[in-house]
Amino acid sequence: MEKPTEPSSSTPTTNYPMRKRVKTGIVGLDEMLSGGLLEGSTTLVRGAPGTGKTTLGIQFLYSGIVDESERGLLISFEEFPSSLHRDALSFGWDLRQLEKEKKLRIIFTSPRIFLSSLQSPESPLNRTIQEWNVRRMVLDSISHFTHLTRDPRGLRELCSNVINGLKREGVTTILTGEDSGTGASIEERGRISFIVDNIILMRYVEIDSTMQRAILVLKTRGSDHAKEIRRFELGKGGIIVGNRFEGREALLSGSPRSTLTR
Ligand SMILES: Nc1ncnc2c1ncn2[C@@H]1O[C@H](COP(=O)(O)OP(=O)(O)O)[C@@H](O)[C@H]1O
Ligand SMILES: [Mg+2]
Repeated sequence: MEKPTEPSSSTPTTNYPMRKRVKTGIVGLDEMLSGGLLEGSTTLVRGAPGTGKTTLGIQFLYSGIVDESERGLLISFEEFPSSLHRDALSFGWDLRQLEKEKKLRIIFTSPRIFLSSLQSPESPLNRTIQEWNVRRMVLDSISHFTHLTRDPRGLRELCSNVINGLKREGVTTILTGEDSGTGASIEERGRISFIVDNIILMRYVEIDSTMQRAILVLKTRGSDHAKEIRRFELGKGGIIVGNRFEGREALLSGSPRSTLTR
């Protein structure tokens, strides 16, 4: 894939008051985010199954540990640590070793247990955050909170308790969320888009009979971001963000059109 040679016209330029940026470690995405995520912010990474949300989360933690010496915490509601270890190894990341070195902690739990431990200062979760000085956290995936209640108001309260609890800790957090395509997503039912600071969208797009991957920053609070839709690929080293899609429109509608043939 061609790498971008210079910032594109929609690369953000506005200057906001200085707050520390936390790099995701994915070069093109950090460009789209004006340098990275604001420290202490919460980010929803939304996409269909298999688009790369968990990979993005792990890459964020891995890069924090290796490049910035920042400890990471991964809370998984869906994948056993052994399966996360195996998938991460295929990208070249030895998570087991990082756990041994106490740089990474993976907790496999249920949404209910996670919620109660977030609310109790003496819980192993909060103790890990404090004692380890955890700076980066990933919650995979927040869609599992829908199993806790059928009541929409209850779900909204629950989501806002989780997100506010995470914000209180001052940890930069990525939450993944499954795009169901039916309008019944956690994002809509839990009103998550209103509570989180940033939203990143990962999508499959079909172009000339091939399936490609697209990434877009939908929202950043307190900061500017690029409005472009860029390609990305998954391979050794994880996610590689490439150029923006040129000469295409309606990419996110599911039926992209070439702007060259009209
Ligand atoms: N080593 C690899 N190289 C390229 N792609 C991979 C590799 N390992 C897994 N994948 C792809 O990554 C995707 C899995 O991404 P994942 O982060 O688990 O998605 P999500 O969490 O959004 O469901 C799958 O589409 C899989 O085919
Ligand atoms: Mg996943």
